Amino acid sequence: MAGKIAVVGSNMVDLITYTDRMPGAGETIEAPRFEMGCGGKGANQAIAAARLGAEVMMVTKVGDDIFADNTIRNFETSGIDTRFVERVPGTSSGVAPIFVEPSGENSILIVKGANALLSPEDLDRAEEALKDCALIVMQLEVPLETVYHAVELGARHGIETLLNPAPASLELDPSRIESLTFLVPNQTELATISGLPVSDEREAEAAARHLIGRGIRTVIVTLGGRGALLVDADKDARHIEAVPVTPVDTTGAGDAFIGSFSRFYVQDGDMQGALEKAVRYAADSITRPGTQKSYADAAAFEAFLARSA
Ligand code: RIB
Ligand code: NA
Repeated sequence: MAGKIAVVGSNMVDLITYTDRMPGAGETIEAPRFEMGCGGKGANQAIAAARLGAEVMMVTKVGDDIFADNTIRNFETSGIDTRFVERVPGTSSGVAPIFVEPSGENSILIVKGANALLSPEDLDRAEEALKDCALIVMQLEVPLETVYHAVELGARHGIETLLNPAPASLELDPSRIESLTFLVPNQTELATISGLPVSDEREAEAAARHLIGRGIRTVIVTLGGRGALLVDADKDARHIEAVPVTPVDTTGAGDAFIGSFSRFYVQDGDMQGALEKAVRYAADSITRPGTQKSYADAAAFEAFLARSA
């Protein structure tokens, strides 16, 4: 088993409504279908990596409601280390009401609940266990101070770090994430962090190079249906081509990308190879409804690769 992955981040319960259209203000309409599933960007990324065979440890907080039991059971049945999944009395778990339209496009509201209480001290308690990890993976559904602390902890112990700066936050201070190994934003998030326009690939590369100039080792810009752009200091940017699929539900596709990239990268250290596989893993996930439910395991993913070759 290659290096362990730690995810320091969120968990949510996704309340997914499939609707023909979104209601307007003051309007009530009927939607045909509802589904509940485990979600949250951190948990999604952890599950994708674990499903592909990675050893994963999760550092997160849940509330003291039925959603918490569900979330912990989900981690456990996926073989994820839950020693640092803490229950907070008197608090609700994170939830995400999600609306999916016939195009597969989604709109998401998040209520952070217990995720908002994940603190730098919680990371200190997990420090010994974190030292055994090869990669720390983060997102922005927990407090920024906690993210900065994890970035610093990684740098201090020589652990590689990856930040998926989602959802986009104007408050994120670029000077506190300069020691990151990987920053993996989409175009909007990259524009927010760099303060530069990112409307095409040329601008994406310039904004990525700006952040690399400040210290970040590698920036991977996700381009949705157009794949991803890999930018690091001494090489030309490399465009990783997307694979065309018919979208059914794009919820959590970005997380499928990050979780699978983490797994493949930690497993064989080949960044570009890991990205080529991660683009395909995410594409496969959007051909099925649901978030984590749509993430393939290693065998199903091999089958997808064989079919799409
Ligand atoms: O990235 C998708 C995720 O964002 C959903 O699972 C939802 O919980 C929100 O956190
Ligand atoms: Na999906």
